[in-house]
Amino acid sequence: MKRTKVIDALKRTDFGSEITVMGWVRSKRGSKGIFFIALNDGSTIKNVQIVGEDEKFPEDTVKLITTGACLRVVGTLVESPAAGQASEVQAKEIEVLGACDNTYPLQKKGASWEYLRTVAHMRPRTNTFGAILRIRHNMAMAIHTYFHEHGFYYFHTPLITASDCEGAGNMFQVTTKNLYDLKKDEQGKIDYSDDFFGQQVALTVSGQLEGELGATALGQIYTFGPTFRAENSNTPRHLAEFWMIEPEMAFYDKQDLMDLEEDFIKYCVRWALDNCRDDLEFLNKMVDKTLIERLEGVLKETFVRLPYTEGIEILQEAIRNGKKFEFPCQWGDDLASEHERYLVEEHFRKPVIMTDYPKEIKAFYMKLNEDGKTMQGTDVLFPQIGEIIGGSVREESYDKLMAEINRRGMETEKLEWYLDTRRWGSCPHAGFGLGFERLILFVTGMQNIRDVIPFPRTPKNCEF
Ligand code: 4AD
Ligand code: MG
Repeated sequence: MKRTKVIDALKRTDFGSEITVMGWVRSKRGSKGIFFIALNDGSTIKNVQIVGEDEKFPEDTVKLITTGACLRVVGTLVESPAAGQASEVQAKEIEVLGACDNTYPLQKKGASWEYLRTVAHMRPRTNTFGAILRIRHNMAMAIHTYFHEHGFYYFHTPLITASDCEGAGNMFQVTTKNLYDLKKDEQGKIDYSDDFFGQQVALTVSGQLEGELGATALGQIYTFGPTFRAENSNTPRHLAEFWMIEPEMAFYDKQDLMDLEEDFIKYCVRWALDNCRDDLEFLNKMVDKTLIERLEGVLKETFVRLPYTEGIEILQEAIRNGKKFEFPCQWGDDLASEHERYLVEEHFRKPVIMTDYPKEIKAFYMKLNEDGKTMQGTDVLFPQIGEIIGGSVREESYDKLMAEINRRGMETEKLEWYLDTRRWGSCPHAGFGLGFERLILFVTGMQNIRDVIPFPRTPKNCEF
């Protein structure tokens, strides 16, 4: 008989029919010769209850029905007398597809996040990670749907590249050279001409530069792919391998850009509320009691639009009133997460789009303001998260862009293709990057970015 997924089994009302379900035992309890199994197959956070009488099954089979075991159950769908579930399955036949002995690492309830990270290869089988991973999938669908519906094209930018978009030098090198036998010239430099690509290359830190080529041809594009950063940031907000969504739009100015950032994030949050209700309710109960309230709250708020300079004034005022920060926040300083969170969580109590940053703390490609000091960046700061989006209007003038590149002492040799966008038919344009895992952190209420991606990569950790 064809298998019915648990999510569908729970909706069926044809009581009395025969049904086959398969899944993993979440728990088993019993009394007076009757056992109750909570079976889950990943299709939903909810379990289907299997009821059986010990004496109807071989003793060997019953013994093998333990937490974590994989079962095939054939039985009768019946109306459930128990609260909280409409139906259950009265088992007629149970086959143990995969037994699970007491070395199974997920036997105990209430294991810590830290412990679960050590068994990250098995944790998708827990309720919480099941919920997170289904939400993660849904957010990817929301993102593709949003852009498709708004006339953006999904543009695939390369993962292996020779250019450091953010200019921070945090790149993972890609080479086929024998590292045990590296030859250097008299200046101590490595000759890459005989390397696979004939030059020094690395994993991308952002698809933006190539994305700009797409936007200045197709009008509006987005990327959605893995991104790599070798920054030694051991924080709950940083991964060495994360996923980024980078839309890039021709003919957008700063206002258009901020409107898109706000509309896009709200669309994703609304999608979660509309499509991930069971998982959100589970997380709201088990992980964060204010989660759903916070998600609904964001939809109601209009994001504050705050120039950096005004942000610094607010922080200075807070310090004068006795607020203590660990890091300095004079005009010109890069804001730390404590500053961002003060503005968002304490001062405004709603998301903030911070704009017009000092050029010294931002990347070379941002459009310079008339004051010659600030650039048209538009970062979105979120409660609990801090920076969730980094974006900007791009400098479209070849001369101004070159002046900034020269001021920074950057090499242009590997950027000529990028500069061609400004050489030929340059156009005003803008874009942003959303950190996918930071969005998932917000939508799930989880605290650590290592717990919203199946296999986290962080400094000194590349297991599984
Ligand atoms: O602010 P970032 O560095 O901006 C860029 O890379 C631009 N090229 C984007 C663009 O304009 N197209 O990164 C964008 C976002 C951040 O706001 C953050 O959400 C996320 O990417 N991010 C990280 N997420 C997890 N781990 C890390 N190490 C991250 N670094 C950035
Ligand atoms: Mg940034």
